[in-house]
This record gives sequence, C-alpha cells and structure tokens, in this order.
Amino acid sequence: MGLQAVGSVAVHTFAAHQSIQSTQRAQSTPTAHQSMDGHHVNAMAGDRGGADPARLADYEDVPEGHFYDPDAEYEPDPEYAATLAPDAARQRRERIGPTGRPLPYFPIPGPLTDHGPAKIIAMCNQKGGVGKTTSTINLGAALAEYGRRVLLVDFDPQGALSVGLGVNPMELDLTVYNLLMERGMSADEVLLKTAVPNMDLLPSNIDLSAAEVQLVSEVARESTLQRALKPLLADYDYIVIDCQPSLGLLTVNALTAAHKVIVPLECEFFALRGVALLTETIEKVQERLNPELELDGILATMYDSRTVHSREVLARVVEAFDDHVYHTVIGRTVRFPETTVAGEPITTYASNSVGAAAYRQLAREVLARCHAE
Ligand SMILES: Nc1ncnc2c1ncn2[C@@H]1O[C@H](COP(=O)(O)OP(=O)(O)O)[C@@H](O)[C@H]1O
Ligand SMILES: [Mg+2]
Repeated sequence: MGLQAVGSVAVHTFAAHQSIQSTQRAQSTPTAHQSMDGHHVNAMAGDRGGADPARLADYEDVPEGHFYDPDAEYEPDPEYAATLAPDAARQRRERIGPTGRPLPYFPIPGPLTDHGPAKIIAMCNQKGGVGKTTSTINLGAALAEYGRRVLLVDFDPQGALSVGLGVNPMELDLTVYNLLMERGMSADEVLLKTAVPNMDLLPSNIDLSAAEVQLVSEVARESTLQRALKPLLADYDYIVIDCQPSLGLLTVNALTAAHKVIVPLECEFFALRGVALLTETIEKVQERLNPELELDGILATMYDSRTVHSREVLARVVEAFDDHVYHTVIGRTVRFPETTVAGEPITTYASNSVGAAAYRQLAREVLARCHAE
C-alpha cells in the first residue's frame, strides 16, 4: 500500500515509520518510505535529509492510533476523521503525544444551528516573535472551517494580523483605534470581511499606539475594549484578540475583555523567561478587573522534534505548567513565514500541510476544553 489520499494521520504516520524499518531490513517497501527519505513534498522534508534514527526510536513502542506527529505529512481533516472516528475508543488508549502525555482524542465538532454569545480569547505574551499573530490567524481560520463564526481583533499597532490577512494597514481610514476612542462609532464601520468564510477582522495600524497614551486619562480605561466588543458578542462564537508584545494598557484591555488567555511559547532557551510576570499580570486582572478570566492554555510553538533542545524546552514547559499545556504542539516550518507573504491562513494557503493540521487540532482541542466546562 502506498500513501493513499484517504488515510488517517495516525495510520499514515505509523505506516511510514514501519516501512522505514522494513526498508532498512529489506529495501523493498514501495512509496511509503519516500516521505522519510527526503524525496517527498513534505513541508519539512527539505531540510531533513532523511530519517533520523533517534526519532524512529521515539516511535518504536508506540502502538498504532490517534497520534499527532509534528513531522508527519497530513491529510485533510474530514478524511482523517472518517478514518479514525469509528475507532475512537482504541485511539484514546494511551497514545503519547509530543508533550509526553497520553494524547486524548479531540472530536470533530458538530455544526452549530445558532451563534453566539462569543467566547473571547486573548492571545498574549509580552515577548515578540513567539507566534501570537500566526496562532491568532490560524486558530481563527481553523475554528471558522469548523463552522464557528470568528472575529479576529488586531490589537497590535504593528498591524501584523491585518497584513497576514492581506490588508494593508496604512491604507485604512478606520481601525480598532476609532472603535476604542470615538463614542458612537459602530463596529460595522470598522469590520472587514476576510477571504475565509465565517471570519471577520477588526484591523489596526499605527494609530492604535496613540490609544495607549490617550486611554490613560479615560474613565474605566481598562475596560474600553470590553465595552467596544459588547455589541458584537451575539454575532460570533469566538473572538480572538492578537495582543501586542507588551503588558501595557492595551494588553490589559484585552485581558479585561477576555474569557480566556492563550499563551504561545516558542520552544527556545528563554521561553520561560518573563512568563512569571505574565501570569502575575493575568492574576491581577482576574482579581481587580475580570474575575471570569482564565488561562486556557500554553501553546508550544516552533517546536522542532529533531533537536534535543526543542524537546528539552517542551519538557520543561510541561513540568512548569502541567495540564495547562495544550496537547497540540505547533512544529517549526517555513510554511508560516510564507503565509504572511501570501496574506492568508495556512489552512487555505497549504491546506494539507502539517501546519494546517496542527492548527485544526488546536481548534478541536480549544473547542473540547470549552465544551468540558
Ligand atoms: N511554527 C512556526 N514555524 C516557523 N515560523 C513561524 C512559526 N510560527 C510563526 N513563525 C514565524 O515567526 C515570526 C514571528 O511569528 P508571529 O506570529 O508574528 O509572532 P508574534 O505575533 O508573537 O510576534 C513570523 O515571521 C512567523 O511567520
Ligand atoms: Mg504579532
């Protein structure tokens, strides 16, 4: 059997690994090993240069089942679901995910008949370059693919979220800044439809940097965004706010408006530096401004399972945050920078890629956490 178009991620992954082992023995298995030999169009294959024996060892004892392999080549989700769903019980049996914990099965969410009120998620880390914007776009797009109505809020004066969705922030007359600062401004005037069905954007540009200063003298300055978003709650299922890399007043506004926080952490040496300050800020907002706020999860990003370093950092993050760490881990792939240039989410730009699969799984995990409440 070769790599069929319809195949589960898991079976696919294990088939690939098993065939490497058999290839090493017999040099006879067709097609399936190609992905691991570097001939394949796998997003990460280019710099792999073939199978890594250390990685194979990781998989040797893992039984076939539902398993997220950041390096695997992924099939589109509906097909994935069709293959796996009948055997969910088997998949749930002790599969070990990249975080070292058994990986639960995150079901494909059913369709919704009505929408809202929205859950608001703040994507927050005062460190830059950890994957906040990338995660906002792609989690949003994946939730939208599952039929959820999604609003993305660009809350960074750099406007990277807007750029990542193909909008030129310099050309905008009205942005989230106007919504915040001008009384009587309606969100409809600022809202933009994105190319992704079910997903809208409140864009921003450099104007927003003035808000940080101007808000200081406002009454209830921390809850300005919360008030601005209120009329929109009924129209959406999820509102995701892309925060700027600071813990200033804009970020405090995002945390005050939010029900949940997602903290992306890059799997790099200094990942945990500054996280204590962030959790302290979250706790302060909880105590003083928004008792509903909770940390939904820590999202490990830019994970490279080939490096011991990445694996060690991830292990330390799990040690520190335990069940707060999402089972879903986002692998490092050049596909993400590419999507920024393309101005669209990875779920549409490279729908079958490992990155798209990862954010779809994250969406299912976030939905599962919300439903578990
Ligand atoms: N998983 C990933 N693998 C590789 N590059 C990534 C990944 N996630 C994000 N990037 C790239 O890293 C850079 C910083 O990501 P970004 O989402 O803008 O971080 P932040 O919003 O926290 O500053 C961007 O160029 C982005 O394309
Ligand atoms: Mg950003």
